[in-house]
Amino acid sequence: MQDFIGVHGHAEPFLNLEPYFDLTGFAAIHEEICYSLTQSEVSYTGGSHKSMGIVPPRFENDPFIDYGQVILRFTPEEFVQFMSLSDSEEEIDYRDRHKFTLYEEGAAPISPRQFLYLKYRYGVYFPWKVFLEFVEGNTSWDDKCTNNGNFFPEIETAFPLTVRFIRSLPFRSIGRCNLLGLEANDHATIHRDNYEKQDNPPINDFITLCPAGNKELFLWHDEKAEKLYISGRLFTFNDMNYHGVDSAPYFRYSIRVDGIFTDEFRTRISK
Ligand SMILES: [Fe+2]
Repeated sequence: MQDFIGVHGHAEPFLNLEPYFDLTGFAAIHEEICYSLTQSEVSYTGGSHKSMGIVPPRFENDPFIDYGQVILRFTPEEFVQFMSLSDSEEEIDYRDRHKFTLYEEGAAPISPRQFLYLKYRYGVYFPWKVFLEFVEGNTSWDDKCTNNGNFFPEIETAFPLTVRFIRSLPFRSIGRCNLLGLEANDHATIHRDNYEKQDNPPINDFITLCPAGNKELFLWHDEKAEKLYISGRLFTFNDMNYHGVDSAPYFRYSIRVDGIFTDEFRTRISK
């Protein structure tokens, strides 16, 4: 039976990185994030993992509706209705509607009103209903570490403590940095990020921080049908393993920072 795929030379698939950092500022950072989120333009993400082919086969037919599948089944009339809610200048032909199913790769952006319509009209399940990008540049998954992006000015203004902490992390460059929030009773779909690239994996350094310490991610062993919970308010893991988050009766968020670790830090955490 295949085991989990290890991380940074370790047999274990995740590393609790708390011992490497001073987290005494996390209470203030948590307060800042909660306050400033109320004034931020947040969006949805997720909702197409099935059509992206990254969920375990056993969950392909679960009752949570995937927008990629919905869009592919649109009639021409439904497509016109959907497109009337677009913010994009780009004219997308009905025959090219599959472009929307790759939203997370940015091929065709879905507007906030389109997200809502997919939810209201078709019952699409969006796991992350509070999604906020911190770093400029519409990076694709493959250059999410090397983009070396800047923080949006409004993010620097609204989240100064958070940005300062993220800048202090041992990255040579930061490509993407996103806040992912789960509403009460929502779960994060079990999926894996990079499995198809495991023979030639991209640079894939990242740190997830959860200042409140209440969003417990798990890795999913599909053959054993078992969860391995990740402890810690700051960690990394090998995202070629399936992973997800259980539902909870309250809102939770985490921030994922993708970049390239400094050589020194990589040496410290590697085995
Ligand atoms: Fe993921």
